[in-house]
Amino acid sequence: MKLWYADASPYVRKVLIFAHEAGISDQLELVDASTTPLDPNADLAKDNPLGKIPTLVLDDGHVLFDSRVICEYLDGIHDGEKLIPDTGMKRMNALVTQSLGDGIMDSAVGIRYEQALRPQEKQWDVWMDGQFRKIGQALDTLEMWREAKIQEMHIGSIAVASALGYLDFRHSGYDWRAGRPVLTQMYATFSKRNSMVETDPQKSA
Ligand code: BEZ
Repeated sequence: MKLWYADASPYVRKVLIFAHEAGISDQLELVDASTTPLDPNADLAKDNPLGKIPTLVLDDGHVLFDSRVICEYLDGIHDGEKLIPDTGMKRMNALVTQSLGDGIMDSAVGIRYEQALRPQEKQWDVWMDGQFRKIGQALDTLEMWREAKIQEMHIGSIAVASALGYLDFRHSGYDWRAGRPVLTQMYATFSKRNSMVETDPQKSA
């Protein structure tokens, strides 16, 4: 399977962490996409009309995107314990935790694009403040839910770990740990896992 990827993307990292935890990361052939909305990758666009990463091309030519769909597929092809619970509140808890993790990534990547791609005089501080507010509220909710929803290994904790790693990577001045001891402890433990170490965007820096 071919995975269009970029080291810095938290959505890609989520898929890579998932594949490591599922024990199938060696089945992924990584292809560097190097794409931004300002400099799209024409080859990637042939596989995914949205031009987004991660995009997974199966050996039979089927193409899957986005990270949720790819993780769902990967969970179906490994023999270990499933990372997406299949029924009941366990499933709902994992999925809604994933939604918070993905939402934090959406806001954090949006801010990154604003800061890195937009000329400084056109950057919109009020909009960025609003995105940071969403991130803070999502983190407070995760902190309040405590262990039950983030300490177990599942798609939700993987998404949250990827989002927190991205905050450290691209928004290191934003102290997400302040006043959030549960998340801080969860991430300290989670980030020691091989899946996190192997996918750290700063690994080769
Ligand atoms: C980044 O450089 O922060 C980034 C790259 C790809 C997707 C999202 C974010």
